[in-house]
Amino acid sequence: MWRDLHDVGRSASSGGYFRQPWTSAESELRAWFTEQALARGLDVETDGMGNQVAWWRPSEASGPAVLTGSHLDSVLDGGAYDGPLGVVSALAAVDVLRARGFSPSRPIGVSVFTEEEGSRFGLACLGSRLVTGASTWADARERRDRDGVFLGDAVAAAGLDPSTGLLSLDDVGCFVELHVEQGRDLVDRDVAVGVASEIWPHGRYRFDFEGEANHAGTTRMEDRRDPMLTYAMTALAANKQARLAGQRATFGRIEVAPNGTNAVPSRVTAWLDARCSSDEALAELVDAISRQAGERASRDETSLRVTPESVSGSVAFDPDLARDLAGIGDWPIIPTQAGHDAGILSAAGIPTAMLFVRNPTGISHSPDEHAETADCLAGVDALADTLARLAR
Ligand code: GLV
Ligand code: MN
Ligand code: MN
Ligand code: MN
Repeated sequence: MWRDLHDVGRSASSGGYFRQPWTSAESELRAWFTEQALARGLDVETDGMGNQVAWWRPSEASGPAVLTGSHLDSVLDGGAYDGPLGVVSALAAVDVLRARGFSPSRPIGVSVFTEEEGSRFGLACLGSRLVTGASTWADARERRDRDGVFLGDAVAAAGLDPSTGLLSLDDVGCFVELHVEQGRDLVDRDVAVGVASEIWPHGRYRFDFEGEANHAGTTRMEDRRDPMLTYAMTALAANKQARLAGQRATFGRIEVAPNGTNAVPSRVTAWLDARCSSDEALAELVDAISRQAGERASRDETSLRVTPESVSGSVAFDPDLARDLAGIGDWPIIPTQAGHDAGILSAAGIPTAMLFVRNPTGISHSPDEHAETADCLAGVDALADTLARLAR
């Protein structure tokens, strides 16, 4: 499976992946998933957004289903494992269970949710949000990508039609997402597999700084209204605020207009990604960063508008389920600061758990993300044991 996926959406220069939703790379991944599922005799459901589930439903299986899976889209220039590891491991776990002669007494579904990263339309976990009703299609369809394409048009261009319906999770009894670890917790603990306790609340906030375009040579330094300065001071202040509070703040994306070397810019738009250990801490951090940015804007005679674009509250995974699964392999229970569809399903009231697989670099959202084959195989075994426990 890794060989099949290796070249899809891969940049020859960086080795990273560009698998934005409703692009040809993502359509290719969807077709690959369908093919893998059919080759295993699984029933494939693809909804009007491109969310997919491959069902293993032997005739004797009944009752609430056990869902497992992850996503196949990537951030811009992402790693190979964030998302695909959970999908590949789920298919491999089905193979392992069959090789063991196991037949589930509950249906098992392997799921792929679309636009998990929010890399194209800015709303993280878009597919699972729509499926659970956390977001509505009427609101979402008006979102635009960086080229100004409406979500509704992008989905239609990929040959999909949301009016044909979305996946129903009514018959899903629990969800387990396996994911590459995105930090260094498991490396430090010297173990290959862990179980998630919680997801930190996090959000994306758009900062629009407006100033006045002017000549880079003839405009005296004291006559400028330079939004780049306001932004630069805001980025420094955000870093300091987050460090002091023991939280996380990142400006990873900016757009500058007119983006010319010899002009003071008229506008800078920057996106803050903030993540904190509690909902209150997140509100406080974003408030403090916005306040400082506003003060700096008045000094620079620029203006500022802050708009939340994608906010996810704290998620505590089902503690009984986490303890139960951790007991299977004596796996540690650890928190994460990364967002996942598992968080959305958990917030929708579905008992949910996550398994993490060690990442020796601790690096993620980068081509340097990694997992050793032995650890990936340990992850598959862990997931197979988990599914066997849940679908017995
Ligand atoms: C998604 O992976 C996120 O946590 O940003
Ligand atoms: Mn990710
Ligand atoms: Mn992911
Ligand atoms: Mn994620």
